[in-house]
Amino acid sequence: MMLLTALVLTGLAPAVVYGQNWDASRHAWYSSDSNNDWHNAVPIGNGRLGALVFGSITEKLTLNENSVWSGPWQDRVNPGAKNAVSGIWNNLVAGKITDAGNSAMSNLAGNPTSPRAYNPLVDLNIDFGHGALNSVSNYSRWLDTLDGTSGVSYVKNGVSYKREYVASYPHGVLAFRLSASDTGKLNADISLWREKWIQSQTATLGSSNAAGHSVGLNANSGQSSNAINFWSGARIVNTGGTVKSNGKNVSISGADTIVIFFNAETSYRYGDANQAQAELNRKLNAAVSAGYPAVRDAAVSDFTALAGRVKLNLGSSGNAGNQPVPNRLKNFRTSPASDPQLITLMYNFGRHSLIASSRDTGPRSLPANLQGLWNKDYSPAWQSKYTININLEMNYWPSSITDLAETQKPVFDLLNVAIPRGQDVAKRMYGCNEGFVLHHNIDLWGDAAPVDKGTPYTVWPMGGAWLSHDAMEHYRFTQNTTFLRSTVWPALQQTSQFLFCYLKLWNNYYTLGPSLSPEHAFIVPNSGGLSQSGKQEGLDLSIEMDNQLIRNVMSDVIETCSLLSLSAAECSRAQTYLPKIRPPGISPSTGRIMEWRSDYPESEKGHRHFSPLFSLFPGNRFTPLVNNTLATASKKLLDFRLQSGSGSTGWSRTWAINLYARLFEGDSAWSHIQQFVQKFPSDNLWNSDSGPGSSFQIDGNFGFVAGLTESLVQSHVTVEDGKTRLVHLVPAVGKSVKKGSVAGLVARGNFVVQSLSWDDGGKFVDAKILSRSGGMFAVRVGDGKGRFEVSGGGSGGVVAGGGNGANSKGIETTAGQVFTVKAVA
Ligand SMILES: *[C@@H]1O[C@H](CO)[C@@H](O)[C@H](O)[C@H]1NC(C)=O
Ligand SMILES: *[C@@H]1O[C@H](CO)[C@@H](O)[C@H](O)[C@H]1NC(C)=O
Ligand SMILES: *[C@@H]1O[C@H](CO)[C@@H](O)[C@H](O)[C@H]1NC(C)=O
Ligand SMILES: *[C@@H]1O[C@H](CO)[C@@H](O)[C@H](O)[C@H]1NC(C)=O
Repeated sequence: MMLLTALVLTGLAPAVVYGQNWDASRHAWYSSDSNNDWHNAVPIGNGRLGALVFGSITEKLTLNENSVWSGPWQDRVNPGAKNAVSGIWNNLVAGKITDAGNSAMSNLAGNPTSPRAYNPLVDLNIDFGHGALNSVSNYSRWLDTLDGTSGVSYVKNGVSYKREYVASYPHGVLAFRLSASDTGKLNADISLWREKWIQSQTATLGSSNAAGHSVGLNANSGQSSNAINFWSGARIVNTGGTVKSNGKNVSISGADTIVIFFNAETSYRYGDANQAQAELNRKLNAAVSAGYPAVRDAAVSDFTALAGRVKLNLGSSGNAGNQPVPNRLKNFRTSPASDPQLITLMYNFGRHSLIASSRDTGPRSLPANLQGLWNKDYSPAWQSKYTININLEMNYWPSSITDLAETQKPVFDLLNVAIPRGQDVAKRMYGCNEGFVLHHNIDLWGDAAPVDKGTPYTVWPMGGAWLSHDAMEHYRFTQNTTFLRSTVWPALQQTSQFLFCYLKLWNNYYTLGPSLSPEHAFIVPNSGGLSQSGKQEGLDLSIEMDNQLIRNVMSDVIETCSLLSLSAAECSRAQTYLPKIRPPGISPSTGRIMEWRSDYPESEKGHRHFSPLFSLFPGNRFTPLVNNTLATASKKLLDFRLQSGSGSTGWSRTWAINLYARLFEGDSAWSHIQQFVQKFPSDNLWNSDSGPGSSFQIDGNFGFVAGLTESLVQSHVTVEDGKTRLVHLVPAVGKSVKKGSVAGLVARGNFVVQSLSWDDGGKFVDAKILSRSGGMFAVRVGDGKGRFEVSGGGSGGVVAGGGNGANSKGIETTAGQVFTVKAVA
């Protein structure tokens, strides 16, 4: 890209770019430091260790390790629960909603009300003696979303200084390289720092520069017994210069280059302090002996292999893309059409963040929490927990569809930690001797008790059901039968056991209560046999989303029993229960899907959650090709919510993108894609709750990737015998979307859309589909009216023409076959 020329020609203020060939879709770059603002600093990570790079002239890196939380497991079960549950049910049945809610708050809410909070690890400070931003020139810093690295460069007294930051998954460490263009010009005072609960701090000089010098900091989570302990350390390898230490810092002067390797280990994964420290040093020693270039190269090739699986092209921005990110965000607010590559960059940043914050790092790996991996606070917003009434699930919406299924493994590790906790809670709170239950948040211990204290959110026993269903979805993409047997089945079996125990026949339907529609209160109406009307309440029974989740669990159980030829008791019980779950209600007055058992007035017409539309997305039963009546009623609710102010948080807005994509409303999906980028990203591209600089939550970054992907490829429908997977190409591309292409998206059934291109307005051109696991697929294109041909698979042409929402007949495949789909006039 002729960047400098372009800037000169258009007369834009010359950005200081060192002639670097920034790619507007790939690099987020900045011409000033983050001004100590964490919504402007750049995140990198290896799935366990994270760094937030401030890029200040005196550098500060906020470092994280994903098992550093505020304390040990807590038994928060309310001892009054077991005796109170049936009385609460009776009150709900009798229409005494407020009495039920009051009793639930005293008898079911946990004590204490909160699980543990995610906490910071340490800061790494590097003082170069270079003063502040105004004392250097030619400053730039960047994030490369394709290779996962970040960097800073500037000029001081005629010398160019450069820093490179790498998070290495293969070596399990963070690696930083500091360099200067002239020999002997690099000074650095390097130290670790933490605000609280430091146990010991060390700085020691090694036997030689090549062997490395060390700084270390050990701390804990602050309890006098049973605290989470952690050990962190940096190994500093310099070429040239002299080194001193004062017991806390390592100071180097006159060096040519300095390399810092960093690691931390915690008692969450290593019960014994010696083991943890041995692991800390094992990784650091291995990195020092491999050397920086090898560590960097391995990290970059590992990261690039994952990030590079999907390539999205929405067209070029030209000069509008040749600017630092804050300028691009600002320009996008007034002219979104001018910078389509900012949308691509947001997409790539989302996938970068998923790879950086969620990897299989071995036993007890931990998933991306509310802030992914990055946190500087001891009391972060919402404890930076795993919120499982939407947010954790949303974090993984882009995983399988953008060919990053392996990033989801930590979710199932955590689920396996949570299941025994949930069995204990099922027994002690609900009197269920089989099965497990989770409420709306868990922490790293799988804390299964209810969280916080409010009738619209606390008593929601469906978290385990949602996560178990997500495990089934993971199977649908990967077709990994080992995973189905080892992980999906135990989770589904035990979720269903809890439901068989806890559901009651009421009005001829298997009904769950007390429960709630996540975080949304209603006004108790003076009808439907309810007394105590007029109050704002949350607790009820037969919640619409619960019924949808229960239906999914029952049919997932049935499907798994059939796939694995199981004859467990749950297989036939699920068959009995499935037809006896209350069907969705459609409001006779508004035509909308009803959120509760009858048409309650909602407390917030524009509520941010779209819980009653779970079955439109991420579920599939309300989608147009499955049930058009329910799709129409869903659209009515969705439009109404948005007209009333929903989409008010970043994550909520991205859920709306996914929902419109599932309704084949491409123009609306695209409009919300643009509005999301206009309203929510902070300067470092993090999703925010209410606009740049406001509370950070990573879920919106991930929901954004999913929504854009859902507009390009969908695969939630089966046709013909119910086993043929429908691969739906360009189902919801907006009319104003220009010619573009995408490579590497994945459909359920493990069909990879290796390439897909469209013309202006989202008109299908062609695609290549790889069958990775064999099986049957059919194709539908756009609105189902366009004609196309399918060929390949080694057995001659396949001619289009099918039914059931598909345009082509089911195509039998074997693993490894590639099919070409081409539009024909
Ligand atoms: C260690 O380094 C930090 C950060 O550069 C600095 O603030 C502090 O004064 C240093 N401490 C000592 C004892 O030199
Ligand atoms: C710094 O930027 C100026 C003007 O933008 C440029 O002329 C100069 O070559 C740059 N210096 C270096 C070392 O890149
Ligand atoms: C399939 O699942 C098993 C169990 O989770 C796992 O060990 C294995 O790596 C998976 N296979 C693939 C190809 O991902
Ligand atoms: C669609 O859903 C409605 C409401 O549950 C149901 O009555 C109808 O039978 C469904 N239609 C189809 C085609 O499944």
